[in-house]
Amino acid sequence: MKHEAITRAALAVLLSLLPSCATKQEPLLEQRLLAEFVEAYPTASNPNGIVRSFDITAAEVELPLLDGKPLRVWAYNGQVPGPELRVRLGETVRVRFTNRLPQPTTIHWHGVRVPNDMDGVPTQSRPAIKPGESFVYEFTPKDAGTFWFHPHIRSSEQVERGLFGVLIVEDPAPPAYSRDVVWVVDDWLLGQDGQIVPAFNTRHDLAHDGRWGNHVTVNGRTNEVLALRPGERIRLRIVNVANGRVFAPDFGGLAAKIVAVDGLYVRTPFDASGFELAPGNRIDVDLMAGSAGAAISIEDRFLRSRPRRLAEIRVAGDPVETPRFEPPTRRTVPAWTAGSEVPVHAELALDARRGGPFGIEWTINGVAFQGHESATGHTGIPLVQGQFNHLRFANHSARLHPIHLHGMFFRVLTRNGRAVDEPFFRDTVLVHPRETVDVGVVPVDEGSWMLHCHILEHAEAGMMTMLEVGSAHGATPGHTKH
Ligand code: C2O
Ligand code: CU
Repeated sequence: MKHEAITRAALAVLLSLLPSCATKQEPLLEQRLLAEFVEAYPTASNPNGIVRSFDITAAEVELPLLDGKPLRVWAYNGQVPGPELRVRLGETVRVRFTNRLPQPTTIHWHGVRVPNDMDGVPTQSRPAIKPGESFVYEFTPKDAGTFWFHPHIRSSEQVERGLFGVLIVEDPAPPAYSRDVVWVVDDWLLGQDGQIVPAFNTRHDLAHDGRWGNHVTVNGRTNEVLALRPGERIRLRIVNVANGRVFAPDFGGLAAKIVAVDGLYVRTPFDASGFELAPGNRIDVDLMAGSAGAAISIEDRFLRSRPRRLAEIRVAGDPVETPRFEPPTRRTVPAWTAGSEVPVHAELALDARRGGPFGIEWTINGVAFQGHESATGHTGIPLVQGQFNHLRFANHSARLHPIHLHGMFFRVLTRNGRAVDEPFFRDTVLVHPRETVDVGVVPVDEGSWMLHCHILEHAEAGMMTMLEVGSAHGATPGHTKH
């Protein structure tokens, strides 16, 4: 796929575009880091002319979820999780969307590098879709992988009520797994009446890590069972759509390796148990069924003192031959070992204070985001397109903040100043209480992209801002603070 990645020639062009004032003390270092990014991921989409059309309607509906009791939810096409959209890389996704909810809504394509006006973030020029209205989303994904979609307005309520679905972009030639399985993990806060507690953005949620439910589900069920045959080797795609809960799945001794994080393949697969799957994150796990007779409980161990069962894997039946192939990898993930030596381009201080419509505001550099519709008037953080940008997320609070960037993938460089070698890109990173996480990013897609905490209550209460990428967005190289 050389032709669609950043080639050396394109790199030369990018380098020549660098404004001279961006050359800090050590231009060579930044050029070396940029050179490592060459061919890391495609710059442009490569449409093959095939258009895949889907109709999606959001509406209120009653469904037998959890343990089969009727639950009033908001759903895409009457199902929770919503429809699984599956396309091949190169195909164009066209979604004719209709809003039958009592509120305006949008669809955001989490992790997908879409044209800026297809990103589902309501702005003055592209407002949210009103009740009864329709909108056509159309884009050609640039990356293969596991993505998901959800509303991007009042999302702490709309996602919690059941609006989410998975978008899978398959490789042109997918690896020969026995099966491809999706697990959407979530939690629900139900009241005495067995229905969704209709109080959203409560003071409690805001003062803590968002809304954590009292029922944990996989694909909408509290008792998900995955039946495998001995010898099967599956690709298990796990998506965390919860408002606030972090999961750390333990695979109970099964051979389970992570081959992709947030959609993109990793440079080197690694043991899956213990990975912190924060809201927004996805992992693709290369999992071997092993021999017959086993019933393995897959547990969430994020809260070490209180492990919870997520699902069960049962291995039974006639054995199949295990497909033999090297796990898929992305050899071009940059190491960026010297990345943290580049001066910090922008530091984002994450904190809370009293005030605002909910009594508590979550802030980035002292600013609580004033709602999407006024986004156009918001002064974002300029990033330098096609250049290595060193960003710092400094958590001054005692809560968790999974920080998500739209429109680009980044790599973690350090945690609390200590180098970490994550051999993969991310679109969401969990920043722990009082922790500082440094990341490197080379933005290639032009536009105004959101950066926000994916604990949806924190986002709703202000922890959002914009990243401005590209000449049209007034990027000022050398800018250090928001
Ligand atoms: Cu999944 Cu801006 O969000
Ligand atoms: Cu947060």
